[in-house]
Amino acid sequence: MNYRHAFHAGNFADLVKHAALIELLSRLTQAKAPLTVIDTHAGAGRYDLGGPEAQRSGEAAAGVARLMAATDAPAPLQALRRAVAAAEKAWSGPAYPGSPWLTAERLRPRDRLVACELRPEEHGALARLLRGRANVETRCTDGFAAAAQALPARGPALALIDPPFERADDYRRTAAAARAALVRNAGAVLMIWLPLKDLETFDAFLRSLEDAARRTPLLIAETRIRPLSDPMRMNGCVLAFANPPAGFEAPLQAACDWVAETLGQGGSARILTPG
Ligand SMILES: C[S@@+](CC[C@H](N)C(=O)[O-])C[C@H]1O[C@@H](n2cnc3c(N)ncnc32)[C@H](O)[C@@H]1O
Repeated sequence: MNYRHAFHAGNFADLVKHAALIELLSRLTQAKAPLTVIDTHAGAGRYDLGGPEAQRSGEAAAGVARLMAATDAPAPLQALRRAVAAAEKAWSGPAYPGSPWLTAERLRPRDRLVACELRPEEHGALARLLRGRANVETRCTDGFAAAAQALPARGPALALIDPPFERADDYRRTAAAARAALVRNAGAVLMIWLPLKDLETFDAFLRSLEDAARRTPLLIAETRIRPLSDPMRMNGCVLAFANPPAGFEAPLQAACDWVAETLGQGGSARILTPG
């Protein structure tokens, strides 16, 4: 396990993912019933943008720093901007919030978050960050296995599956976790993040997801920041949703379009509804 999200926090892909997550949570927390959220690959929850990792990669400078200075971002990205500003205020410094922090901040007292992180140092940082929140549990465990096991069998639920994709079988394990989650709770909303390198890998994953999520509505958001000419680079990212809430497509498209066009070089975005 070499992957360290501190190098990538606040990059274009985090902006798409976190704007979509905030938009999704704003809809899912409107229902009366309590919501359960499982974050299978939670990370540390807070990333220091002045630290050596962010400085070395320059990814936050090309991502969140440009969002914070923009005046034309669409509503979901403006909501993320407000969330980043609120986190920086809470932490008294330039830092970028990860998915478990963004989720915990949006849950109502009756909702619940289970955040899984396998790397002990990242998990330790996350546990310290979210300490004292009665409706949040962090687990230093394999999130693929926890995806279905921690979901309630019935009722509103969201599973965010955001692996590092540093291992070849992460694609297979992601589709298997999606299948298990939908077997456990057929109405659960799934949000899966994956890198976009080449179309072959993406198409193969999409087929395995369609197979895993039979009869479940899917929504796929593809954000390319450059043409897919070099399969060794992350040329974009994909968000795949199962059981997306009504009306989610338009704000999602707006966020992906802005990121592709503003932060990309020859980028473009598209939303697919397979099946
Ligand atoms: C892409 S990062 C997560 C970023 C986070 N979801 C966010 O949006 O802020 C992936 C994380 O998964 C962790 N990880 C790797 N394999 C894992 C596994 N099998 N189960 C849980 N966490 C894992 C890595 O240590 C890393 O922190």
